[in-house]
Amino acid sequence: MKFAIATAFAAVAIAAPLSSYAQFQNADAAVKYRQGAFTVMGAHFASIGAVVKGEKPYDKLSVEQDAAVIETLAKLPWHAFTPNSATPASKAKPEVWSEADKFKAGAEKMQAETVKLSAAARSGDLAAIKASFGATAQTCKACHDNFRNK
Ligand code: HEC
Repeated sequence: MKFAIATAFAAVAIAAPLSSYAQFQNADAAVKYRQGAFTVMGAHFASIGAVVKGEKPYDKLSVEQDAAVIETLAKLPWHAFTPNSATPASKAKPEVWSEADKFKAGAEKMQAETVKLSAAARSGDLAAIKASFGATAQTCKACHDNFRNK
């Protein structure tokens, strides 16, 4: 019985690993967190990009793993855009907060595309991976153009 309960809790923890969000001591910590999430996500995105551009041989498992990391990390940066966290170290434009609905829509669009990218990676269809990579990259660019300083 004890085992069954422990197993049930473990299953819940695995199914909803992001239901408890990180807490931030201050604005600097929030900025570091979101930039860190973006940086790691960007590295794995570039890794798939190299395959898409033909700079790296296609390896199904490796693309699948990159896509899974991206799908998970794509959920993280948003709650770290806490109020009053446009610190000097941050490249976020004030519009992140003044046009919060538009920013949120962009974040949701990107997350939806990363789910599709992950599915394409699991399918092993390189043409589908390329198409999905392009669609995801569009969502990165659209948001950066509007909400990130150069
Ligand atoms: C909805 C908006 C939005 C989307 C979508 C988005 N980003 Fe960003 N990104 C930002 C903002 C805003 C910053 C600046 C954060 C800061 O400096 O506080 C940023 C920063 C970054 C950085 C720099 C981090 C650093 O250390 O300064 C990288 C890398 C990055 N994004 C990669 C990506 C990739 C790759 C995607 C798509 C897969 C993506 N972003 C999608 C808004 C977005």
